Amino acid sequence: MSKPLKVAIAGLGNVGIGVVKILEEHKELIADRAGREIAISAVSARSKDQDRGVDLSPYQWVDNAAEMADLDDVDIVVELIGGEDGIAYELSKNSLKNGKALVTANKAMVAHHGALLADMAQDAGVVLRYEAAVAGGIPIIKSIGEGLAANKLSQVYGIMNGTTNYMLTHMESRGLTYDEILAEVQELGYLEADPALDLDGIDAAHKLAILSSVAFGTKTDFESVYIEGIRNIESVDIEYGKELGYRIKLLGITKYEDGNLSQRVHPVMIDRELPIASVMDGFNAIVVDGDYIDRTFYNGRGAGEGPTASAVVADLIDIARGHSGPAFFKPASKLIEAAPVSINRRKGAYYVRLHVEDHAGVIADITAALKHTNVSVETMLQKGTEKDGTVYVVIVTHETTEVAMKDAINRIKEVSSVIETPQSIRIEKL
Ligand code: HSE
Repeated sequence: MSKPLKVAIAGLGNVGIGVVKILEEHKELIADRAGREIAISAVSARSKDQDRGVDLSPYQWVDNAAEMADLDDVDIVVELIGGEDGIAYELSKNSLKNGKALVTANKAMVAHHGALLADMAQDAGVVLRYEAAVAGGIPIIKSIGEGLAANKLSQVYGIMNGTTNYMLTHMESRGLTYDEILAEVQELGYLEADPALDLDGIDAAHKLAILSSVAFGTKTDFESVYIEGIRNIESVDIEYGKELGYRIKLLGITKYEDGNLSQRVHPVMIDRELPIASVMDGFNAIVVDGDYIDRTFYNGRGAGEGPTASAVVADLIDIARGHSGPAFFKPASKLIEAAPVSINRRKGAYYVRLHVEDHAGVIADITAALKHTNVSVETMLQKGTEKDGTVYVVIVTHETTEVAMKDAINRIKEVSSVIETPQSIRIEKL
């Protein structure tokens, strides 16, 4: 067997500790599969004294993670610190510059700096891998980049954030309000340190930006992802969606055609019978469409110590085996600068919920606004009379454009009997 591959692990949170555990517990199995031992040389984290439930004394302790890039007996740096910039980015760049392979789980960093890191890795002739950055235990990067490499891919979409999927699942199944389920995920520790990353769709957008590059060979372009989170979703929309045959999910959707890239993350109503509609709790699922495969569907745990650490170790095994292809599965110099497609170019149907005063002429005013913008109604429901003399009016439109729908909603807002900002959710036929 060749000499061991020496690994330095920066960041000893759940995932870092998970990597240590897998490398120790599966030492022989991994050596057999990789053709050489994968050995930990050094570890680093903010606090040395914390009890992490594993014995780290056999490994060199490094106080300043950035210095791991300079260690002599290290072949691969595993960056598990997180954050798009700061020490994680510094360590990553220095590792590549110093000719050390880099394995990272840092979705924000790869989404923001993927093209540059890929360039640096190519220039230095070293490997950059980031399987754990997207969808945890689902090997989606390898599946797309290797397994589907024969195809021209047209679309990738999916549930890329487990926390918000858990929230939507339990708002529906247990009838909880947004605030109730938010308190629960806070209590369970499911939220990112900055909860906005989950709730506002940013975490899903990071993953989507990475998947776009892997699938279409475009430069990572996080800035052009259209992003809406789930903060505006109310139980009542989940209930009415259900009556109409839909389920609400937070999806990331990326499409590429002739140099044009459309990337968006927002809540959608989808047919309850679709396979992805039945992906519940903290699970992730990704669908990939290509010309020769038609459609493939991947489902699994998108977060947590075990699944994420498993993805990190899979990257280490790849490198130990001598796999050395480019980060985004084509030379960094050939990554395409795609033209971003604005959300305003979306075509599709919409669910709209209006809270209105229940008196004569209200519906006429609403339909006048729709007529003016040429938005055609497929279904309109009036939901009960509330004690205060107000009701909900729920509209499902025929296919229209985002621009027409926004215009219609702005006009509807001006109708004096409309007493709340209208709710609108895109209906996706997938
Ligand atoms: N906050 C992320 C999620 C963690 O909920 O999916 C995994 O990336």
